[in-house]
Amino acid sequence: MPSLIHITEIDSTNNYLKQLVYNQNVEEGTVVYCDFQTAGKGQRGNSWESEYGKNLTFSMVLYPNEIKAKEQFIISQLVSLSIAECLSKHTDNITIKWPNDIYWNNKKICGILIENALESDFIKSSVIGIGININQEKFVSNAPNPISLKNITGEEYVLTNLLTGIQDSILHLYSQIKEGKKEFICQRYKELLFRREGYHLYNDGTSDFEAKIVSVESDGILTLETQEGIRRKFTFKEVKFILD
Ligand code: BTN
Repeated sequence: MPSLIHITEIDSTNNYLKQLVYNQNVEEGTVVYCDFQTAGKGQRGNSWESEYGKNLTFSMVLYPNEIKAKEQFIISQLVSLSIAECLSKHTDNITIKWPNDIYWNNKKICGILIENALESDFIKSSVIGIGININQEKFVSNAPNPISLKNITGEEYVLTNLLTGIQDSILHLYSQIKEGKKEFICQRYKELLFRREGYHLYNDGTSDFEAKIVSVESDGILTLETQEGIRRKFTFKEVKFILD
């Protein structure tokens, strides 16, 4: 089993692991986790809130050298699927909000920030940053809809048990990709999609509109269809889910 590196406090486990990978040989699957991040990074330039010692904040490195840059969305799919399946052992109603947030009902329990280093058309290394709200009870930042596993179940969790389970699960699905079993992962990802069925509100930066999810392609593009049957394609950041 690849190593688990524990750090008490760091700016961001993604930054730390990227630097480590840049400076020395780091075994594939290595995880760096910490008790507290002073500058935890979220998507869209946001920061990531996590109370000292309460949650999982970690990063894992993979070297998916056979995956083409244009196919990098498969990494998001495999990571979100692994986490969704691990969390589903503890509660119902876990889904994957496209492209790679993990939700419990309409609330966000986990965020993922993947930073890939590319070499020509291929991925050289992938630093996968994961923040999962586990034992934190109150959230103070302006994040719109956070929730923790403890908020849901009322139980307190041993963080390292969950962490090794997720590390195992990601490495298992990753080995399946290497064996060419991508289809199964795409299929499971679709089955677990948040808003997989029905019409819901979205915003394209200009206005709200109602639509249903038609597909998520292997390049990560989301296709929505309006009530009038008009299909619209979006990349990440081009569309916002309006939550009820
Ligand atoms: C999001 O905005 O949804 C992504 C959040 C990613 C947070 C994790 S916590 C561990 C790793 N280190 C970081 O600085 N960010 C990621």
